[in-house]
Amino acid sequence: MSSSVVTVVAPVNIAVIKYWGKRDEELILPLNDSVSATLDTSVMCAKTSVFASSNITCNEIWLNGKKESFSNKRLINCLDAIKSIAAKEKSVDDDFLSWNVRVCSVNNFPTAAGLASSAAGYACLVTALAKLYNLKSDVSCVARLGSGSACRSVYGGFVQWHAGTDPSGKDSVATQIAEASHWPEMRALILVVGDKAKKTSSTRGMNITAQTSELLKHRIQHCVPQRTTSIIQSIKERNFPKFAEITMKDSNQFHAVCMDSYPPFVYLTEVSHKIIEIIHKYNDLCGGIKVAYTFDAGPNACLYLLEEEVPKMISIIKHFFPSTTPDNLVTGLESTSELVSS
Ligand code: PMV
Repeated sequence: MSSSVVTVVAPVNIAVIKYWGKRDEELILPLNDSVSATLDTSVMCAKTSVFASSNITCNEIWLNGKKESFSNKRLINCLDAIKSIAAKEKSVDDDFLSWNVRVCSVNNFPTAAGLASSAAGYACLVTALAKLYNLKSDVSCVARLGSGSACRSVYGGFVQWHAGTDPSGKDSVATQIAEASHWPEMRALILVVGDKAKKTSSTRGMNITAQTSELLKHRIQHCVPQRTTSIIQSIKERNFPKFAEITMKDSNQFHAVCMDSYPPFVYLTEVSHKIIEIIHKYNDLCGGIKVAYTFDAGPNACLYLLEEEVPKMISIIKHFFPSTTPDNLVTGLESTSELVSS
């Protein structure tokens, strides 16, 4: 064999209990458990091809058509970790293992704008490399080395990332809570508010927060453990109002923690705040919680709602943001994309 190529598509996941803060920077071990839902790959995904050949003189990476330097430490850590598993498993011959790789990855949504692009990207890269080297082991641990939240994208449906306690990180893994088919009416509606790269990367933001925020300590000790247990229960029971309330409270607390950091940093924009207001008004008018919002490290909203609410919500969004352009509408635990501008 003188060359081999593998292509993989990996989905985005959007957390309902947010991961924010690390206890180990190198191994990417989180301070708290987190919970997410994995979206369908037909709307938001990363697609990665990995190619190994004796003719490639040094490792290469192409992101969205542009050649980038392969010097990123996390990228190197992922490749090294996969190769060392392959060596242990003896899953390919030594020659093949010594060849350099070419990685080509594309996202079908804005990169680094708080839409979990790194989660999909690293989940995709690690899964593609694992296929290239014929690995049998679970690779969610390796995806975590690229981007913490990436370990959750390795599974579909509802997923928990256990913070773990072991200093080696061996128990800091993702597990599936339930498949998407367990709650077939659940939908995610992504409102793209802005597609610019964020000013404060999640790595930098987490560092500032971990060093300075008192609220983060309170969150980790007194809020996240109870919320994690309750939201898992709400998923198992398919209790939407409970799921939605915890989701919104956790998103709000995550952004409050960013403001409580010193210096503070802000990911939400005026449009994001307007979306929050609209959702609360809508739920009030309905006399119960029908829609939940959540925001990652960026201004874009992910709305969780049940299928029957989707058309109503889209018309409300279009009413308040008339220049909205509908994108894709799909079914399942999947995303519906809308471009929102004021
Ligand atoms: O995995 P990172 O470094 O991209 O951090 C993700 C952080 C949040 O998206 C804000 C929360 C989460 O749990 O996904």
